[in-house]
Amino acid sequence: MDRSYLEDIETGLRSAIESRRLAPAIDEAARYALLGGGKRLRPILAIQSCVAAGGTAADAMPAAISLECIHAFSLVHDDLPALDDDDLRRGRPTVHRAFNESAAILAGDSLQCIAAEVALESPRNTSLILSEILSATRLMIDGQSYDTEGSFPPDMIEEESRLRLIHTLKTGALIRAACRCGALAAEADQPVIDHLDRFGTAVGLMFQIVDDVLDETQTTEHLGKTGGKDREAGKRTFPAIVGLEESRAEITRLAESARSELKTMSDDADPLRELIDFLAFRTN
Ligand code: IPE
Ligand code: IPE
Ligand code: MG
Ligand code: MG
Ligand code: MG
Repeated sequence: MDRSYLEDIETGLRSAIESRRLAPAIDEAARYALLGGGKRLRPILAIQSCVAAGGTAADAMPAAISLECIHAFSLVHDDLPALDDDDLRRGRPTVHRAFNESAAILAGDSLQCIAAEVALESPRNTSLILSEILSATRLMIDGQSYDTEGSFPPDMIEEESRLRLIHTLKTGALIRAACRCGALAAEADQPVIDHLDRFGTAVGLMFQIVDDVLDETQTTEHLGKTGGKDREAGKRTFPAIVGLEESRAEITRLAESARSELKTMSDDADPLRELIDFLAFRTN
């Protein structure tokens, strides 16, 4: 995994919490949720998309931190008993297990507000970046609703289109937004924004298919979250609906499609190129 900006990302995340006087119970739970590890994929994508589009890491840092706050919020709520009811995340008890449900719900709410405040610190294209993050968050929440409620628009009958809708929204929306925010932070031209948008769309769907495959094939200990949970809960996943082999074939197709979006870009896009393989072949 790309470790270039990891230290700056961790510093930015800590400061997002420490520069605010949160209620003590929220403060404790939000720190636990935001600062307890994780791959930091969305911040890395925002920063490397910005660099690929000719900007600097500093240009994209507020968007990067903001997106990770949204991601942390989404995980805290995803694990709640009313959603996936998970006890383990990143090798530790989930937030509602380590504290209580009220702290988990409120810390998630608070992280969402902090995310908006931090996005407003973006030096360029500030309102476009904030708007991008807010709409991606709304789409992520729609995806969570399709995933947990199972009620779909009346014209969406096929299982595979329902599955693609869930994955594109619950996971793809934030990953795509990370790439778009990077491009916006660099004040990139429209063709570059479009390439990074399609790159992010492919990587986002691929990321969730890999997550589904890992849930099915890896141990709880290796994942740091409960393995085999999706099948047990009867979730719509790629392995359950199209099978493991076809899931892996789709991962390869999406990796190819992500790579082709970067064809016209310079060496500055090399970290993004390397990320594709890392994400396609990751095991946790
Ligand atoms: C987990 O995301 C939830 C999904 C969207 C699949 P990550 O795999 O990025 O989780 P962390 O942040 O690295 O723990
Ligand atoms: C999570 O999907 C998507 C969001 C948190 C928005 P999953 O429910 O598959 O993620 P994990 O497996 O719990 O990390
Ligand atoms: Mg879920
Ligand atoms: Mg889950
Ligand atoms: Mg999962």
